[in-house]
Amino acid sequence: MSGQARMTLGDKTLDLPVLDGSIGPQVVDIRKLYGQTGAFTYDPGFTSTASCQSAITYIDGDEGTLLHRGYPIDQLAEKSTFLEVAYLLTKGELPTKTQLDEYSYTITRHTMVHEQLLHLYRGFRRDAHPMAIMCGVVGALSAFYHDSTDIDDPHQRMVASHRLIAKMPTIAAMAYKYSIGQPFIYPDNSLSYTGNFLRMTFGVPAEDYVVDPVIERAMDRIFILHADHEQNASTSTVRLAGSSGANPFACIAAGIACLWGPAHGGANEAALNMLREIGTVDRIPEFIARAKDKNDPFRLMGFGHRVYKNYDPRAKVMQQTANEVLAKLGVSDPIFDVARELERIALSDEYFVEKKLYPNVDFYSGIILSAIGFPTSMFTVLFALARTVGWVAQWNEMIGDPEQKIGRPRQLYTGAPRRDYVGIDKR
Ligand code: ACO
Repeated sequence: MSGQARMTLGDKTLDLPVLDGSIGPQVVDIRKLYGQTGAFTYDPGFTSTASCQSAITYIDGDEGTLLHRGYPIDQLAEKSTFLEVAYLLTKGELPTKTQLDEYSYTITRHTMVHEQLLHLYRGFRRDAHPMAIMCGVVGALSAFYHDSTDIDDPHQRMVASHRLIAKMPTIAAMAYKYSIGQPFIYPDNSLSYTGNFLRMTFGVPAEDYVVDPVIERAMDRIFILHADHEQNASTSTVRLAGSSGANPFACIAAGIACLWGPAHGGANEAALNMLREIGTVDRIPEFIARAKDKNDPFRLMGFGHRVYKNYDPRAKVMQQTANEVLAKLGVSDPIFDVARELERIALSDEYFVEKKLYPNVDFYSGIILSAIGFPTSMFTVLFALARTVGWVAQWNEMIGDPEQKIGRPRQLYTGAPRRDYVGIDKR
C-alpha cells in the first residue's frame, strides 16, 4: 500500500487504500466502499477496474508493451517456443533444459483424446462452425476426464491443465477434419507440438505428411503471440466461471464461447474478410471514409484495441511473419498489399491518429493463416488453441489466490421501483 485516496460522498469521508503493483498504474482498493457508504462504483466494460491481482502478464497499452512473467513478447516470439512459453506462463519461470524436456514429454503423452469423443463429433452437422464444435467438445471433456475435475486437489488441477493444453490441437484439428469430411488423424508424438497440429490438420492417411519448418515456426510464433493477454474478455470469463468452483473443462469452454465474438477472437476472420472485400488498393479511401462516418456502423477490423493506444507489439511480429510465410510459399497475395497500404493510410489519417487506433494482432494474422491453408472459420479456433495456455495459467492462479471470491458484480438499477401486481383484466 502506498497511500490513500480520500473520497467524499454526501456527508461521509472515506480513506481508501491505494495499492501498488510491481509496475503499472496504482489501484484504489474499493472493497470497503459499499460496507462503509452503501454506494457502488459504475464501470461498464471494466475500463477502470482491476478484477484481480495477477503475476502472469503485464500490458502497458500507451507504450505498446506486453510482458509475460516479465519477458517482452518480441523476445519470446523470436527466441522461444510455444511449449516453453506455456511452461513460463503456467509455472512462472523459464524452464531449464531438463524441465522443458520433462514438460514436453508430459504434454505429448496427453495428446490423444478419448475414443468415445469421436462419436460426439459425428453428432454435429458437417457445416457446423468449428467454434461451435469447440465449445461443445471442450465442455464435454468434463464428462470424459472425471479424475481431473476436483478443483480442490492440486494434482487433479495439474493433470487437467496438461490435458487441456495437450488435447486442444487434437480437438481443433478434428473440428477441421470433420468439417471437410476427411478422416481424423491421430497425433504423432515424434513431432513438435505445432508440427503435430499441422499434420493432424493437413495430413491424410493416404500419404506421408512432411512438416515444413518455416510454416511450423510461423505457426508456433502465432501461438506464442496469442498465448495470454492479461484480463481480456475471454480470460475474465474463464475466471468468472471458475470463481464459482466450476471444473476447468467447463471454464475453458466458457472462455471459448466468449472468444468467438467478432470484437474479440473473431476479429482476425473479420479482418481478412474486410481486406478481401476491399480487394484492391484503389478502394481503400472508400473504406477509410466509411470507418470515419458516424452514421455507418462499419469499423476497420484489426484496428483499435481496448488497451493498446499504440502499435500492438504483436502486430509487428505478425507483419514480419507474414513476410516470411508468403516468401516461403511463393504466394503473392494482393490482400497483403491492401493490408500494408491500408495500414500506411490509416496511420497517417487524423481520425485514426487522434483516436490512437493502430493495427492489432489480428490485422496480419488472417493473411498468414490463409496462406498456410486454413479457412477463415478456423482462425478463431487457432486463437482458442493458443489462448488455452493463458486461460489455464490464469485459472490456476485464481484458484490459488486466497483473496479469490465468487465473482458477483453489482448494478445501477434503472427499472421500475416497487409496484403492486395488477390482474390481467385490469391492465
Ligand atoms: N474503426 C473505426 N473506428 C474505430 C475503430 C475501428 N476499428 N475502433 C474504434 N473506433 C472509434 C470508435 O468509433 C470510437 O469513436 P468515438 O469516440 O468517436 O465514438 C472510438 O474509436 C473509441 O472506440 P471504442 O469502441 O469506444 O473503443 P473500445 O476500447 O471500446 O473498443 C475495440 C476496442 C472493440 C477493439 C474496437 O477498437 C473495435 O471494434 N475494433 C475492431 C475489431 C477488432 O479488431 N477487434 C480485435 C481486438 S484485439 C483482440 O481481441 C485480440
